[in-house]
Amino acid sequence: MSNMSKSPGKSAAKAARTAYVCSECGADYNKWQGQCGECGGWNTLSEFIVEPAAKAGAGGGVAASRRSSWAGRVDAPAVTALKDVRHSEESRVSTGIGEFDRVLGGGLVHGAVVLVGGDPGIGKSTLLLQAITRMAQTLPGLYVTGEESLSQVAGRAARLGLPLDGVHALAETGVERILEHAAATKPALIVADSVQTLWTEQLGAAPGSVSQVRESAARLVRYAKETGTAVFLVGHVTKEGGIAGPRVLEHMVDAVLYFEGESGSRFRVLRAFKNRFGAVNELGVFAMSDKGLREVPNPSAIFLSGSRSPQPGSCVMVTREGTRPLLVEVQALVDSSPLSNPRRVAVGMEQNRLAMLLAVLHRHGGISVGDQDVFVNVVGGIRVQETAADLPVLLAVLSSLRDQPLAEHTVAFGEVGLSGEIRPVPNGEDRLKEAATHGFKRAIVAKGNAPRGGRIGEMEVIAVERLSEALDAA
Ligand code: TYD
Ligand code: MG
Repeated sequence: MSNMSKSPGKSAAKAARTAYVCSECGADYNKWQGQCGECGGWNTLSEFIVEPAAKAGAGGGVAASRRSSWAGRVDAPAVTALKDVRHSEESRVSTGIGEFDRVLGGGLVHGAVVLVGGDPGIGKSTLLLQAITRMAQTLPGLYVTGEESLSQVAGRAARLGLPLDGVHALAETGVERILEHAAATKPALIVADSVQTLWTEQLGAAPGSVSQVRESAARLVRYAKETGTAVFLVGHVTKEGGIAGPRVLEHMVDAVLYFEGESGSRFRVLRAFKNRFGAVNELGVFAMSDKGLREVPNPSAIFLSGSRSPQPGSCVMVTREGTRPLLVEVQALVDSSPLSNPRRVAVGMEQNRLAMLLAVLHRHGGISVGDQDVFVNVVGGIRVQETAADLPVLLAVLSSLRDQPLAEHTVAFGEVGLSGEIRPVPNGEDRLKEAATHGFKRAIVAKGNAPRGGRIGEMEVIAVERLSEALDAA
């Protein structure tokens, strides 16, 4: 926060001032304006009371002497040679849930603050309740609920058969009280469910408003950094997509994990959007069952649509989100359009990328879909962000256009360039091995990704350099 940088003597005497904070990117301004100068969002600024720095640490349940230089600081900063700073190896604790550990970068780091976002009902509370109870042996936990009653939480834990020793629960939304309890019981892990219900006495704004969410979270972050307590903040995503207000939290926390899933599907994907202690885009895959969330350690199978006999408009690709290759099916439907401006709809990938790929298909593949509606869907509710999806998308589009399935047991991946070349993508061998393990017989990939003998195990690898070659091979 910019107010922290003010000269301490002055700000201690100053009264609270009003700032205007963008709910999309967190930029703050002294005056209200219609458009955020940082991210360009319209009507995203809302009022935020900035308290004087001296007051910031007080009443937080933490002794003033322990206030670190990271938070609202009072003393002049001491400069230290970096080599003299004492540090410890970041020690990690397993959450007891392998897929959760994977997304965290190999377990929970002591003192880390992790924001878990997702739509209401996706399973955030369930996941964290499972994690906090399993970790209780090593990290005594405090589960703070502002949404459910204690008996609901206890009932759920009992129904899921979770071990309850070592976990305290608190139904409370006032940050001051939460921190008092934390100071008294000294948990090593706090779950705050949800950050939208939190409020601090120091602000007059209503709970759920940007300023309350931001200040309450800042209090918990400060507490975490001062005491080495790990904190999970739960945040609901609003209709607009950002976690309400919590977009502004992304920069204060160590990791941001989003829980995604299609309504109607029992599979859930936890994705690391930011992680100071691990790879971003790492995916953890879970299935919601009547016994809570179960991990899916070998997720490749679930993202294939199920019918293994080849269908027109379908192509299997190997994506590599995070550190693990994953087989995912891409489906396309190409149909003559009644519209003068045919539709291009992409679900699970970027729409603009689809438009660009169709232009390359026309220009360098000689195949026009200018009078056709094109719909592309990535099966299983997963979002593919990497360019390895380019080639499979075009193969699926071609297959739908011709109404001919691709040869059975074929996979593809590769980036398509604007001049019609097929470019290699990172970790080609890993991807090919994953496909071979799942019984695929043929792979169409960029030349740079093909192994020397043209085979991986039983699988034949067809190397292509140009889009036209790839279309011929398919
Ligand atoms: P929940 O964790 O409360 O979601 P969130 O905290 O993200 O809002 O999950 C609620 C949903 O999960 C609800 O629709 C019921 C379902 N569910 C199961 O199917 N099985 C279970 O064992 C549990 C605990 C929940
Ligand atoms: Mg919940």
